[in-house]
Amino acid sequence: MRKGILSLTAAAAAMTLGLTACGSESGDTAQNSSAAPAETKAAAAGKVGVILPDSKSSARWETADRKYLEEAFKAAGVAYDIQNAQGDKTQFQTIADQMITNGATVLMIVNLDSGTGKAVLDKAKSQGVATIDYDRLTLNGGASYYVSFDNTKVGTLQGEGLVKCLTEKKADKPIVAELNGSPTDNNATLFKNGYDGVLKPKYDAKEYVKGPDQSVPDWDNAQAGTIFEQMLTEQPKIAGVLAANDGLGNAAITVLKKNNLNGKVPVTGQDATVQGLQNILAGDQCMTVYKAIKKEADAGAKLAIALAQGEKPTASGSVKDTESGADVPAVLLDPQAIFLDNVKDVVADGYVTKDELCTGEFAAKCTEAGIQ
Ligand code: BGC
Repeated sequence: MRKGILSLTAAAAAMTLGLTACGSESGDTAQNSSAAPAETKAAAAGKVGVILPDSKSSARWETADRKYLEEAFKAAGVAYDIQNAQGDKTQFQTIADQMITNGATVLMIVNLDSGTGKAVLDKAKSQGVATIDYDRLTLNGGASYYVSFDNTKVGTLQGEGLVKCLTEKKADKPIVAELNGSPTDNNATLFKNGYDGVLKPKYDAKEYVKGPDQSVPDWDNAQAGTIFEQMLTEQPKIAGVLAANDGLGNAAITVLKKNNLNGKVPVTGQDATVQGLQNILAGDQCMTVYKAIKKEADAGAKLAIALAQGEKPTASGSVKDTESGADVPAVLLDPQAIFLDNVKDVVADGYVTKDELCTGEFAAKCTEAGIQ
């Protein structure tokens, strides 16, 4: 009986939701309610709503996360709706409200800040909707699950990467500038903990000199350019830049180019974007951090699909919410540092294609870098 009720509810909700996935057609679902047990499971499946943050702070959200999540939901035959808030916090809440009204039973979010993230999670929970924080932990948000990378490790790799590149350049007492991610993104805090854990001992030992250190609101690449321009004006001898992702790194590289300093001043990054990898091939960027988004999307989708099917999945680990003190069940994946000699790994993994990376002037550089 109960299964039947769930199925009908799912069918009714599927009709109003108008989702794109297979298996969400209301006719099929309704029929399944009286069918064999194996089919009943699919019939009982709810719907997953995913809210991505924007499409400008990193190419990853639209080119990788959306694609891999879609593939996973389609393969499972679970109804889904993926939307992008385009950096607008009000829009973020509106999308969440609409998803809940339209029958989402699982909500997976990449928050724009913890405050609006929490409001959305609270609303979802009050309506019995299961919640997952995807990539960014919503502080004090109380999501049931969290899926991400080990973000402190991402920062450690960036710090170590910068040290490696400065050592190769035989930099003497280099002045290091830090261009941090958004102050409202808990990940940016974790990245900074990671790289400051590497850089601070160098500053303390007077091996490196601490230069300007600033956060970039909303990871806004244009603002990052303005901020770095000011940094370089005030401190023309900046010799290394710890940029928290490829977009911020590219903003710094653009300014360095204007000053004929590109290639001389190592710059870090993150996300293994086509632009970041091309900057590495060109010798303008020291390193990036590759996060296999397919694995992250698969882990997030796996939890979401289980929840949509009424199961209570277990996560492999947990993280501490530093604001509420709660332990949040979590899946944390391992990031990888990428330098010129292993850009080819990112291509081999299928994250970027040779076609998109090795265009024009980069063709010869790709060959040199052993990219097949
Ligand atoms: C993500 C990074 C991304 C940044 C800007 C962070 O929360 O972990 O991969 O570059 O946001 O979108």
